[in-house]
Amino acid sequence: MKKLETYHNQNRERYLDELFELLRIPSVSADPTFKDDVKRAADMVAEYLKKTGMDTVKIHPTNGHSIVYAEKIIDPALPTVLVYGHYDVQPADPYELWDSEPFNPVVKKTELHPDGAIFARGSCDDKGQMFMHIKAVEAMIAQNVLPCNVKFMIEGEEEVGSIHLTSFCAEHKELLKSDVILVSDTSIIANDIPSVTTGLRGLAYMEIEVVGPNIDLHSGTFGGAVANPINVLSKLIASLHDDNFHITIPGFYDNVIELSEEERKALNETPFDLDVYKNQLDIDDVQGEKGYSTIERASIRPTLDVNGIWGGYIGEGAKTVLPSKANAKISMRLVPGQDPERISDLFIKYFNEIAPKSVKVTVTSHHGGWPSVTPIDTVEYKAAEQAYTATFGKKPIPARAGGSIPIVAMFEKVLGCKTILMGFGLNTDAIHSPNEHYGLFNFYKGIETIPYFYQYYSELKK
Ligand code: BES
Ligand code: MN
Ligand code: MN
Repeated sequence: MKKLETYHNQNRERYLDELFELLRIPSVSADPTFKDDVKRAADMVAEYLKKTGMDTVKIHPTNGHSIVYAEKIIDPALPTVLVYGHYDVQPADPYELWDSEPFNPVVKKTELHPDGAIFARGSCDDKGQMFMHIKAVEAMIAQNVLPCNVKFMIEGEEEVGSIHLTSFCAEHKELLKSDVILVSDTSIIANDIPSVTTGLRGLAYMEIEVVGPNIDLHSGTFGGAVANPINVLSKLIASLHDDNFHITIPGFYDNVIELSEEERKALNETPFDLDVYKNQLDIDDVQGEKGYSTIERASIRPTLDVNGIWGGYIGEGAKTVLPSKANAKISMRLVPGQDPERISDLFIKYFNEIAPKSVKVTVTSHHGGWPSVTPIDTVEYKAAEQAYTATFGKKPIPARAGGSIPIVAMFEKVLGCKTILMGFGLNTDAIHSPNEHYGLFNFYKGIETIPYFYQYYSELKK
């Protein structure tokens, strides 16, 4: 590993310059305005992969954004690691809330990142983390220490639900055949408290339209006599939680796999400071399901949240109007045992049931995804654990994340392959928010840790 250290040290600046080039491309998958940029980002990822010395690099077009595939097979008898990541990013708006331009990366120091952090959309989620793998593999190839085969599958649609990835995997099972899937798209607890993500929540995403009168009405002439869709929608949404913040949809919790007392105890022993948490968010109190801690509420319990709500007059001043329509987007985070399709159906059924006759309600469902858990008694997990231990000097804690990467469950189903989530971000890195950033410490630590995974994994597999 001394050889790798020397190589990394000689190339530190270039690693960062190359990542900056990628971060300058606004590869926003959700917005068709950026279609060409998404394509440019795929091209750049492919170029970088070519330069690492992969045997083959290919851009696979889909009906949406392309999937970049690459492989280096040093010996078919050796195990194969498949690296998954995404080069697409979330929209950067609202732009005015950024202190620097989202697609012009700059390094600034922060309290949690005293060595500096890269500020840019995608710096942590996921360009910065995905790019660590390209550099780690580049270094292993350059120094002749790659101990096994490696494949890359880097997609451009993760932030819009990986729409075309399932069919791509189903159609390319042989090509993607591997022993383990390696992903860096999650967090560690803190820079001095490494962790390996052992669970992700699933997702069911709904959109609602409530229609009252056929046009916007004078709120004096008609107010009080005709249902106001915004009033109705607000009340319906409020009724989806009871006073204990339990979700009221019948059957919602039916198949939830509860943790054992032992598992809950271990989970609640993860380092966590509620005061720091509240301070960071500038909130006076937390809120959530009765009977569960903040850690539990944000990882092992299902949730229901309004992501956006609109309707009526929101311009300057006061316009007295009884709106014709109201809309909302609602997401439900799911935990093991919950089937996203079943939950969507339950939601639609219940919402239609509780809606009053005075309005017409349409509920549609967007992309969803299954939750997943990683067992920790496996060779794959051990290799990750040893890798973090080697570079952080501390055994990582298994930790469940609240976010979703639906393709992890899909990989297991379609490719029959387990995923190891070796993330290096922090929960405070503002992914999806203004001023997203990624610590330089985290970036270089990731590049340093990944080759240890390859080494330990190859040894343990023998
Ligand atoms: N990298 C995130 C997921 C994540 C973040 C997991 C932090 C654990 C910790 C991913 O890019 C993401 O944003 N996923 C979406 C779901 C997707 C279907 C749009 C999410 O969690 O909202
Ligand atoms: Mn991500
Ligand atoms: Mn994301």
